[in-house]
Amino acid sequence: MAPHVLAVANQKGGVGKTTTTINVGSALAAKGRRVLIIDIDPQANATSGLGVDRSAVHGTSYDVIVSGRPIAEARIQTVVPGLELVPADLNLAGAEIEMIELPVRERRLAYALEGVDNVDYILIDCPPSLGLLTVNAATAAGALLVPIQCEFYALEGLGLLTHTLSLLRRELNPQLRIAGIVMTLFDGRLALAHQVVDEVRARFADELLLPLIPRNVRLSEAPSHGLPVDLYDPTCRGALAYAELAANLDLRLAERERQRSALAAGAAT
Ligand SMILES: Nc1ncnc2c1ncn2[C@@H]1O[C@H](COP(=O)(O)OP(=O)(O)OP(=O)(O)O)[C@@H](O)[C@H]1O
Ligand SMILES: [Mg+2]
Repeated sequence: MAPHVLAVANQKGGVGKTTTTINVGSALAAKGRRVLIIDIDPQANATSGLGVDRSAVHGTSYDVIVSGRPIAEARIQTVVPGLELVPADLNLAGAEIEMIELPVRERRLAYALEGVDNVDYILIDCPPSLGLLTVNAATAAGALLVPIQCEFYALEGLGLLTHTLSLLRRELNPQLRIAGIVMTLFDGRLALAHQVVDEVRARFADELLLPLIPRNVRLSEAPSHGLPVDLYDPTCRGALAYAELAANLDLRLAERERQRSALAAGAAT
């Protein structure tokens, strides 16, 4: 079966894209799913957060997207069994400008991922912008996984999300869906955090993915040890929340796949 390809995207910075990519990836791997994370952020936070040893890197997402190198040459095994990574490096910082000159500049990652069938999930950690790298991820992906921080400005971002999604669908990827909205950095003591969750629930009831991810210091410490949180502190609140969220995501996507197959079978008869 073809892998679920999810772009973890939000144009806003610091909302938990990388934390979600690493920890959902690791939690899915712990459930026995084969996962490939692709880091396409020049900051390379997913790469450092997974403790990648520079000497183990044979190729990067820059080589794959810009130079057209086969993705197999850039895949490396991480410390997490079942979790592989295509690392990023600083070369990516210039990629968006270099890509303007290239043919089919919006589909380079999509082409690179064609034929990758020995994983169940591909998670793409996007930079905080809607530039050509994020557009490549959204074109390659079947769906977006959208982390939203539980704060006031999140609500303004929701309008932009709906607008961007319809633009991407119209121009580049008509099949693109939202796999889930992940509410991050939730602090239950703040009335505002509850209001933001209520608003998201009202507007995106089907997309909201539970549980809410609490603000948890272990989640912010784990990357400096080069570990996903479930290896760093498997019983902390952050680890338990991401494990449950990953299980819910896995169920939701399996259910969608069943519905799609049933529809296709119905159409064929
Ligand atoms: N639930 C959480 N609890 C505590 N800290 C968190 C949580 N989620 C993320 N953080 C911390 O907040 C910061 C931003 O998170 P992260 O890097 O995942 O966001 P991002 O959206 O990937 O950022 P960028 O847009 O720069 O790529 C990091 O220092 C991270 O460790
Ligand atoms: Mg990030």
